Amino acid sequence: MQVFVTEKALKNRISFLKKKGLSIGFVPTMGALHAGHMQLIKASKRKCDITVCSVFVNPTQFNNKEDLIKYPRTIEKDKQMLKENDVDIVFFPTKEVIYPEGMDLNVDIDLEGLDELWEGEFRPGHFKGVVQVVKRLLDLVSPEYLFMGQKDFQQFTIVNMMLKKMQIDTELVVVPIHREKSGLAMSSRNVRLTVEYRRKALVLSRMLKYVKNNYSFENINSLEDYVLKQIKKEGLRPEYFKIVEGKYLKEVSSVNEDSVIAIVAAWAGKIRLIDNIIIK
Ligand code: PAF
Repeated sequence: MQVFVTEKALKNRISFLKKKGLSIGFVPTMGALHAGHMQLIKASKRKCDITVCSVFVNPTQFNNKEDLIKYPRTIEKDKQMLKENDVDIVFFPTKEVIYPEGMDLNVDIDLEGLDELWEGEFRPGHFKGVVQVVKRLLDLVSPEYLFMGQKDFQQFTIVNMMLKKMQIDTELVVVPIHREKSGLAMSSRNVRLTVEYRRKALVLSRMLKYVKNNYSFENINSLEDYVLKQIKKEGLRPEYFKIVEGKYLKEVSSVNEDSVIAIVAAWAGKIRLIDNIIIK
């Protein structure tokens, strides 16, 4: 496993590998790696000759300062996991490498309001930061394939829109949510859950499953109301629970659309969790 910190060293290595005709798969992360990330790495290793993983806690996507400060950082453990999973290249840039002074890195594309819905409503500016850092990382890594998790449904939908609109020659591969045995969706933030909230948080995956099993018998609005009540009853503070279509994440009044998903965000004590399920 090779570890790079600077732009120049990384780019040199990647251009050397590309000249040899090797395909590059890229897994961007913010560290605090867990088994969910390893699924992304495995998917990349199956599809590509070389797997590059970046670890960078991107400040521009945090709308909340405290969240940025408290975001778990487990660099040594991350390195160990990446090594054990045979990642070829790890990129650990500093803030100065990603955002060099004087470089205009704003990504000026119309996200068609997708960045203002759901997560965007509760985390203003978040997706602008995500798009900015992903674009910058793609410029550095220039991968054939980009691997992202289904758990951040809105994130990968927006990144896909960016790839299309900017005609970036990278294909997005979405990897299904990896869950703990209990049903809890894996997340870097889970390490901050108390034992009690870890148990209470199971209501999210339980309710998503319930919706998948019952959407065809019940009215959407009453289903959403029921789920919100159950989440509150368990002691979580929901921000949204919605059944939406899968392309622009617009609310639906019936499930006749081609693709329908249920999305949820809720606070489990001081930890904000998101989850989703593809209904069809
Ligand atoms: O999903 C994440 O961990 C981050 O949003 C990403 C894609 C690495 C960008 O910082």
